[in-house]
Amino acid sequence: MALSARAIEEIRSLPPRFPHLRSAVPPALDIAQEELGRLTPEAMTEVAEALGLDPGYVEGVATFYTLLHTQPLGRHHLYVCTNLSCTLRGAEEICHHLRRLIGVKEEREISADGLFSYEEVECLGACEYAPMLRCDGRYYYDVTPQKLEALIQGWRQEAGNGD
Ligand code: FES
Repeated sequence: MALSARAIEEIRSLPPRFPHLRSAVPPALDIAQEELGRLTPEAMTEVAEALGLDPGYVEGVATFYTLLHTQPLGRHHLYVCTNLSCTLRGAEEICHHLRRLIGVKEEREISADGLFSYEEVECLGACEYAPMLRCDGRYYYDVTPQKLEALIQGWRQEAGNGD
């Protein structure tokens, strides 16, 4: 799967914003992932070409960071923080409820409708709003089972799968 001309242009515009060229790789990969849903070998090669870097280096970055994915995921991939503050305020219950809502048994499993997957991650820097999660580049704060249900239902309706 190839990146759009817009994504390539956005990636090419990144280097001047960073002190070192290699610092532009994570945000460039984030742009690619946002567009394709995951980092395919072709996408990593395109990112490397757009930045003028070795594809092996780009792949190394892509496989190092938790928030970057080379395998397929659900259309909405939820990152649920399970670090200290979030765990103390109910992250475990949120994960349990989420698995039940989307019908998966474990992290990175894709729901039957292809819409959802999730994973548990370390602190996302929003501890004062624990428990929290990130999805589609947005943060959701003070998550409760009820708020989670509303979110999932909203995405299902958006996809035409709602009740
Ligand atoms: Fe969850 Fe910091 S512990 S955002």
